[in-house]
Amino acid sequence: MQAPTRTTVSGVTGSVDEDFLRAFHDSRPGEQSASVEASRTTTGRTSYEEFADLVPDARRVLDLGCADGGLLEVLARRGADVLAGVDLSEAELGLARRRPALAGADLRLGRAQELPFADASFDAVFSHMAFMLMTDVEQVVAEVARVLEPGGAFSVAVGGGAVEGEAMELFLSLAVPFFRAAGTMPRLGDRRSRTREGLDGLLGPAGFAPVTWEPVVIDMGGPPEHVWDRMTGSFYDMVVLGADQVADLRASFLDSVRAQASGGRVPCGMRVVHATTRLAT
Ligand SMILES: C[S@@+](CC[C@H](N)C(=O)[O-])C[C@H]1O[C@@H](n2cnc3c(N)ncnc32)[C@H](O)[C@@H]1O
Repeated sequence: MQAPTRTTVSGVTGSVDEDFLRAFHDSRPGEQSASVEASRTTTGRTSYEEFADLVPDARRVLDLGCADGGLLEVLARRGADVLAGVDLSEAELGLARRRPALAGADLRLGRAQELPFADASFDAVFSHMAFMLMTDVEQVVAEVARVLEPGGAFSVAVGGGAVEGEAMELFLSLAVPFFRAAGTMPRLGDRRSRTREGLDGLLGPAGFAPVTWEPVVIDMGGPPEHVWDRMTGSFYDMVVLGADQVADLRASFLDSVRAQASGGRVPCGMRVVHATTRLAT
């Protein structure tokens, strides 16, 4: 098999996929956390808050793909006193460094495949909507096992698809043909990191127990224009479309969802799965 192409940007060497992610997040820092913080699960909390509940006793924490630190801030409020994050995007990390709650955090530009932290430094490692985008996932898992203390927790939040019959499903049915026609998007991540069986297959050999698996529904509904904005901000593939394609997609999406709106509001649910496991003691 041919080795993936490696490139070096700002001293961080990685894959073409990572170049795409770095460029994307450097040009739009803060968008992902703003979207998470604007949405609620069926229990009325953010995905970060429910995700943090998976390890309520976490004190020395690392966030893989921490971006601008939205999850780390929640973990700090819950009492974590050693806070660390790693991300490919300097612009995201720049925003994280401005959060007062993260003043003492160790925030590093780098790759989850090569963690710049000592063995057994953390009692919990989290990765919210980021592990699922990573390549060389066995290497990431080996690094997580190395930096966790025995018995430490590893929790990942991964995308679980659209709620059936709602606006995200409609958006995807309209958008995927545009994405396929554009065809220039790198394939992000490893399929195994998005399924329970795949995760167990990756994590078991590194000494982790089978994962728990909690699907959560995120409400992204609202007025049609608001839902369009949420959809376009939720899919990396949108950047490969030209202005004319975006305008066509927008027109057909808004026409269709206006028919679904009730009291001016369009239902739009996205599934996220919160999975967690522990390293053997
Ligand atoms: C979808 S965003 C999620 C950000 C954040 N965890 C959240 O939920 O708000 C994915 C993040 O993972 C980072 N990322 C992706 N692959 C990475 C890798 N191999 N090492 C470090 N960070 C990575 C990206 O730079 C980006 O900030």
